[in-house]
Amino acid sequence: MASRLLITNIKKLAGIETADLLFKAGKAMSELETIDNAFLLIEDGKIKSFGPEINNMAQYPEFEDCIVINAGGGMVFPSFCDSHTHLVYAGSREIEYIDKIKGLSYEEIAKRGGGILNSSKRLHDATEDELTEQALARLNEIITYGTGAVEIKSGYGLNTEDELKMLRVIRRLQAISPLTIRATFLGAHAVPEEYKGKQDEYVDLIINEMIPVVAAGHMADFIDVFCDRGFFTPEETEKILMAGIKHGMKPKIHANELDYSGGIQVGVKYDALSVDHLEYTGDEEIEALLGSETMPTLLPGAAFFLNMVHAPARKMIDAGLPIALASDFNPGSSPSGNMQLILSMGSIMFRMTPEEAINACTLNGAYAMGVSDELGSITVGKTANVFITKPIPSLAYMPYAFGSNKIETVILNGQVIQVR
Ligand code: NIG
Ligand code: FE
Repeated sequence: MASRLLITNIKKLAGIETADLLFKAGKAMSELETIDNAFLLIEDGKIKSFGPEINNMAQYPEFEDCIVINAGGGMVFPSFCDSHTHLVYAGSREIEYIDKIKGLSYEEIAKRGGGILNSSKRLHDATEDELTEQALARLNEIITYGTGAVEIKSGYGLNTEDELKMLRVIRRLQAISPLTIRATFLGAHAVPEEYKGKQDEYVDLIINEMIPVVAAGHMADFIDVFCDRGFFTPEETEKILMAGIKHGMKPKIHANELDYSGGIQVGVKYDALSVDHLEYTGDEEIEALLGSETMPTLLPGAAFFLNMVHAPARKMIDAGLPIALASDFNPGSSPSGNMQLILSMGSIMFRMTPEEAINACTLNGAYAMGVSDELGSITVGKTANVFITKPIPSLAYMPYAFGSNKIETVILNGQVIQVR
């Protein structure tokens, strides 16, 4: 018999979309369809139907044999889709954080062998079991904050063996976690110590050795490059993206976090699914993005933590662009994967309206990780990843009440998840 879950007494069901809409851009980002006093029916892990609640629902044949969850006047949202994280890592880096407080920049810390290279050493020394255990704890935590799908990058390996180790950990997480997980190969995250002064040789290693083995093992969905001042140039990025595309991996890149690096234009040229960070976005970059299928993705957690200039989100939306928001969960620039906080930051730092910020964290995030045909909205037939909030006064309360967990019940793949 089909397993059926009926959620009743929903104060507001938010994020309703038609199946054909894969993302929202410009003015449409401020539209968020809702139904007041609603029900939601889930069957075999998928959204089956929804609508305004009717009296004595149990009397209707379509609601027979349902497990009933009374939302108690809470609201229901599609789960967040966090399209950019580095959450497989060993240990934390709060020592550098103190350096940062004392005034060192992200680049200065990186030059001293801190930053990504520090995480790389520690990842090398950690076993796959240790990495899986640490990452699983992070996944379990983000579930409690409402995430239902997450992209995870490699990029702390920086040699073939350790990059594969990270990707194997991601594969294990896919098997044991109820979250939908997508994997990205980020060999070009930084130049490792032993290739200092020989960056071109490291790029060759990525292209000739890493990409072919990653692709042969079907270890990654996407290919990423940190295309920015002091990291990888647009020319190097092009070469790496071309090799990745040849091996079936769609680009999804780090760009314009530290400068007008040309990264956004390279991403668009190679039809990247997303270009991420974008603190340095000017008229030319906006022009390049308009009309493309590339999702501009902003990471307010990193901008907040590193005290960076803010991406011009308002200008981008007003120019007609879509925006996704993601956590960038990583030990160096954003040690949090709490998407409720990201929602608030989008609204507070980027002046996005609650509706825009919710679309950016749900449907547009789903697009940026290639899953918006199955996740990111309340749509009949989509996978039932939703959360029920505590009783809250309004939709705007979600971004407004930053820092508190507004979620009471999490449902992933139609199953109630025990939130610890
Ligand atoms: O997205 N910008 C590059 N990479 C990460 C930081 C990774 C780290 O510092 O460990 C980011 O912010
Ligand atoms: Fe990142």
